[in-house]
Amino acid sequence: MSSSRTVWQEAIRPFIFRKLVNQVSADVAVIGAGITGLSTALMLQEAGKHTVVLEARRVGSGVSGTSSGCLAPMLLDVRYGDILHHFSVEATRKVLESQVEALETIAWMVGHYRIDCDFRWIDGYLYAENEAGNRLLQKELEAFGKIDLPCEKLTPGESPLPFPVERAVRVPGQARLHPLKYVHALARRVERLGGEIYEHSPVIALNHGDPYVVTTAEGSVLANDIVLATHTPIGFHPLLQSKTIPCQSYAIGFRTPIPPQDALFRDMAEPCHTLRIGEDEQGPLVILAGEDHRTGEIRETEPCFERLEEYARQRFGMTSADYRWSAPIFRSADGLPYIGSALEEPHLYVATGFSRQGLTCGTLAALLISDEILGMAGPLDKLYDPNRVKPLTTAPTLVLENLGALAHFFGDRLRRSEAADTDEIAPGEGKIMDGDSGKLAVYRDDTGEIHCLSPICSHAGCLVRWNTFEKSWDCPCHGGRYDATGHVLNGPPLSPLEPVPLPLRSRS
Ligand code: FES
Repeated sequence: MSSSRTVWQEAIRPFIFRKLVNQVSADVAVIGAGITGLSTALMLQEAGKHTVVLEARRVGSGVSGTSSGCLAPMLLDVRYGDILHHFSVEATRKVLESQVEALETIAWMVGHYRIDCDFRWIDGYLYAENEAGNRLLQKELEAFGKIDLPCEKLTPGESPLPFPVERAVRVPGQARLHPLKYVHALARRVERLGGEIYEHSPVIALNHGDPYVVTTAEGSVLANDIVLATHTPIGFHPLLQSKTIPCQSYAIGFRTPIPPQDALFRDMAEPCHTLRIGEDEQGPLVILAGEDHRTGEIRETEPCFERLEEYARQRFGMTSADYRWSAPIFRSADGLPYIGSALEEPHLYVATGFSRQGLTCGTLAALLISDEILGMAGPLDKLYDPNRVKPLTTAPTLVLENLGALAHFFGDRLRRSEAADTDEIAPGEGKIMDGDSGKLAVYRDDTGEIHCLSPICSHAGCLVRWNTFEKSWDCPCHGGRYDATGHVLNGPPLSPLEPVPLPLRSRS
């Protein structure tokens, strides 16, 4: 299987929202119709604020729709032991409490709005398969002890997994849901309460004033407050973007003769694997996610899927995967998300750095941002302040990440051409070629037509790379992504890759 297909898309008949084609006004404009944007809009609508939600593609088509649907406040992929490295015990306890509050808020929403999204409370398990994993698990257990997180240590024989493990720990109080069903239900509810939702309305400009003016291709929104619920914020936010690490994660859905119990599982590998039970029309299946890497750093993504499939074959006797997809994720330098108003812009709110906790962190962001807009900000606001700087403990990460971005900015310009001529580019493939005055991003579509673009990212000038699985142009610097013909898919860029003429000598 070579194309991206999530478990979730199959089970949903999406409600269609119209495109924005005129000028509208709102108290709050929310950009991005995933869990963060729609939860924020719903909370604000409930409190009497008029909200307009703008979505570049379809509701839930971004990061929320590619989530694995795990709600695991106690099994963070940024482990509590690592958070304790950057923050005090008291602050780490607050992280745990806020993650639990976010999950309880989702559970409350499901009950209150009677959302049919396969929500279920389940146990979570951490497991180690070797000595290195065992040491990391021991460190995590010590962190659990410091922040009073209850768990039960199991002997290897008590593990509910159908393969042998060195050690496992049960952590109750996690949950799972169908992320697309959930966000679509939120969208319908926002509209029923008088909010406006527009699909296929990508933002092309944001003018900072009083009010803000958000411009889309065919319309605009005037608003007093702006919420950038686009994961990494659109536009130019150098401080925040220099602290945010764009990554790509992978997932497969498969059937097995030996399914695990209905629970969430996370191993102690680096990067970790997560497992859960899902369902489609043919019945239950297992969803396995992992193999994370920094965006744009791997051209051939097929080996990432092959490693996941090997993991599933060895442990579950899987024969082939029914679903394969990849998901963008954004990590912060110190492990905690950045949520709140951006530097010197008290009415512009951002929410990013969620790692793999997009569903709980998105809901947490909605709670914090809506409280802030309604003048009810609580004591947690400084913990997630997007302007925070932890100079000592995060300095090595920041230096490495910014050196990495600089290396891409300069080094990628010296990279060797991937094709000398267009006849070396197969249908459905993209390659970087040398042009007369610099590099070219060249894509041949399935009809054989060539699309020639400038590979210079419209955000801050790094060079994009071809993603063989998603068939997209990905920017390694801040996670911007474009489709094969250069239109923005997600990330900070506001404008497409520029079309450029193909040199005469390369036309074939
Ligand atoms: Fe920032 Fe491309 S996303 S330079």
